[in-house]
Amino acid sequence: MRGKFVPLPNLKTALSILLYSACLLLEVNQVFAQPVMQAGKLTSFVRNANGVAIETEHAHVALTVFSPGVIRVRMDKKALGPDFSYAVIAKPDKTDFQLNELADKLILKTTTLQVQIQKKPFSVRFETPDGVLINQDEPGLSNAWIGDEVGSYKTLQEGERFIGLGEKTGNLDRRGSAYTNWNTDAFRYTGETDPLYASVPFYIGIHHGMNYGIFFDNSYQTDFNFGASNRRFSSFSAQGGELNYYFIFQPRVADIIRAYTDLTGRMPLPPLWSLGYQQNRWSYYPEAEVMRIANTLREKKIPADGITLDIHYMDGYRVFSWDKQAFPDPKAMTDKLAGLGFKTTVIVDPGIKIDPAYATYARGMQQDVFLRYADGTPYVGEVWPGWVYFPDFTRAATRAWWQAEVANYAKQGVAGLWNDMNEISTWGQKMPNNILFDYDGHQTTHKQGRNVYALEMARASHEGMKRATGERPFTLSRSGYAGLQRYAAIWTGDNTADEEHMMLGVRLLNSLGLSGMPFTGMDIGGFTGTPTSGLYARWMQIGAFTPYFRNHAASDSRSSEPWTYGEDVLNISRNYINLRYRLMPYLYSSFYQAATSGMPVMRSLAIDYTHDEQVYSRHYQNQYMFGDAFLVAPFASNKEFGRLYLPQGDWHDLYSDQLEHGKQAKALELHLERLPVYVKAGSIVPMQSLVQSTAQQPEGKHASKFRKLEIYLHGFQDINSVELAGKPLPVQMRQVAFLGKGDKYLNLPSVSIANSAEKITLKY
Ligand code: GLC
Repeated sequence: MRGKFVPLPNLKTALSILLYSACLLLEVNQVFAQPVMQAGKLTSFVRNANGVAIETEHAHVALTVFSPGVIRVRMDKKALGPDFSYAVIAKPDKTDFQLNELADKLILKTTTLQVQIQKKPFSVRFETPDGVLINQDEPGLSNAWIGDEVGSYKTLQEGERFIGLGEKTGNLDRRGSAYTNWNTDAFRYTGETDPLYASVPFYIGIHHGMNYGIFFDNSYQTDFNFGASNRRFSSFSAQGGELNYYFIFQPRVADIIRAYTDLTGRMPLPPLWSLGYQQNRWSYYPEAEVMRIANTLREKKIPADGITLDIHYMDGYRVFSWDKQAFPDPKAMTDKLAGLGFKTTVIVDPGIKIDPAYATYARGMQQDVFLRYADGTPYVGEVWPGWVYFPDFTRAATRAWWQAEVANYAKQGVAGLWNDMNEISTWGQKMPNNILFDYDGHQTTHKQGRNVYALEMARASHEGMKRATGERPFTLSRSGYAGLQRYAAIWTGDNTADEEHMMLGVRLLNSLGLSGMPFTGMDIGGFTGTPTSGLYARWMQIGAFTPYFRNHAASDSRSSEPWTYGEDVLNISRNYINLRYRLMPYLYSSFYQAATSGMPVMRSLAIDYTHDEQVYSRHYQNQYMFGDAFLVAPFASNKEFGRLYLPQGDWHDLYSDQLEHGKQAKALELHLERLPVYVKAGSIVPMQSLVQSTAQQPEGKHASKFRKLEIYLHGFQDINSVELAGKPLPVQMRQVAFLGKGDKYLNLPSVSIANSAEKITLKY
């Protein structure tokens, strides 16, 4: 170029170029100066009634004491907005706390926790009152924004484990894994698929003999990293909104779940019939087929309480309508089913067919219930009925419209609503983000609305049925968000008929239980594909030890009722369904515990044996407690030997009564007829006589009050006598009939009592 003439730009152009370059530089600086922006230095703080409000260089922060062991942290770049949550129903209690200022920090202290709030830069550190570290913002990373994404980075503690996070694949201990919450129709998911249908941004961290919970209440897409491809931190972040999390510190995992369900609510006690066996298929129709299934269950003496109708009961998949040819008189049919001791559950999908002649659609249009774009036109998506509009369940008026539609089902004798495709599913396609959601007056977009859509649909279904029937409703949902337990049971969607999926299903249910959702189930037998007869039998056995026990199969797979796999499988299935019905008082009591304390019915061993590392081993991680008494060890049906771990305590083999001492591993010979189950010594298991449905009274002179107690002794001690209300009762031998293969006797005393409300005394 040297020597070549370059013309000088005129002054105007030169100035513009200069100005343009300056602007570019400024922009570049803005972007590059702080690609990751932290809160910066604390500049001021004010103590208020429930905590402390803090200003920093770049953030507005509030720490709120909810109770001595629960502290909420909110942070935003702008002033904190109105406080609104679909998940949290609790308000801060009036906990006393101290707030002291030192040169470099503030210390907020309750009787259970102390929070050290560093000033330069702002960061928090949770400690026990005597200063033992529980959890802290990772120095240097702390809490930060990357554009609109907000995240919190916590120092990974030595040996730290992570459990929970709802419906997530992978191991019980989530250390080394990362997950995303974005409700997804995960048809044919595998053991690695993430995300699945529901989002519960709540997990429990465990280290150094302590455990804490973190609930990140943000309904945008959230991401969790538990030391995945990084060994420095665990983190949680959201694509928008506030950093808004609850830190829970309690001595036991059970207390963390209790505290978490104090915040997000608990399952109301469901109707007894929903604890019975449920027969499902995509789809039983016409009516004659439904009745054939119901009658066959009764003829073959397979106890059952529910029949479920999948999408073919509708007229062209128009929800709230009936195919009049297949079901000419729905009320007469549900009455007939009720006469046989069956309750009817029907599927409901959110997509409403665009059809002016369809009354539900017309009423929806009139009441303006559908999701719209910013220009006011409704969002049109595609699902079962073809092109549809989707109700905006985050709007009170929409929920009221849905409740009124639901009332028609109640009139037709429908007892349960199965909420499906509510992620929202649009044939597995992405939904546009520019769709508006009312978010109960806090208008937002699909980005924030999606993850709570199913929660609000389940709410509308549940409340609609409750109002229409005046009874405890049964609601089932595929998708959801934290707090779903207040309205619905959840099942794990479209699983696959293979051994791995069955074991994965157990872990999914255990994880949901850890995450505040006690009423859970999976498609027993597998939704897609055909199980081997062994797999079917084993899955039915496990199903008897899951909270929501339903058998289901896809339309293109073979029929999957218990009698379709031969006589042996029928016997095995019937034995375990019988056992479940005999255990109904025990099961109902376990549900009662869940309803009152949040303690799940199906309990990962990590709940009661949190600090026993064997519980997290790949060999034993699928084992769980079913209520207080039963330890269930699920194994693939094609295994001849299995490894079992019995934690602390004494355990009776359910079948042989053999007493085993805990804190030991055992090799087991496996038999298809028996699912390994152990009973914790010291347990008292209330049972009843066999019934074919919960509509039937258990036998006995005193009808509903007649109960039987199985008492499992501690150690080798014998009971000399049992007293009821001061009067001695005979101690009897118990005959175990459910095994089917010959009679087995357990040398356990059992007593029959006339009134379970009276006090029972065991004398050794
Ligand atoms: C979805 C559901 C499944 C149901 C099917 C037809 O795939 O997850 O359970 O049978 O739709 O309604």
